[in-house]
Amino acid sequence: MKHTLTLMPDGVEVALAQGSPLTDIEYETSEPLIPFGCRSGACGACVVEVIDGAEALGERDPEEADFLEDLGWADGNHRLACQCRLLAAATVRVVDQ
Ligand code: FES
Repeated sequence: MKHTLTLMPDGVEVALAQGSPLTDIEYETSEPLIPFGCRSGACGACVVEVIDGAEALGERDPEEADFLEDLGWADGNHRLACQCRLLAAATVRVVDQ
């Protein structure tokens, strides 16, 4: 099963397999739509703001939440794209770093 990930502000839609980390978007397009580095939740290159479908990305584990807080994103609306998994349709925006 695939789900649609929509990237704002351009509204680009990409279908990803159930349970994929959002950074798997790189395999579906030739555009670098979500920046990433380590893919292990350690570099902070892949922070996205969740616009819609927060529940579709699963719960933040404590390590992800702590690291986001260290990066200044303690509001609960941000995720590490490499750590959350797409479980249903969602819309996110890559943050300006
Ligand atoms: S790619 Fe490094 S934290 Fe997500």
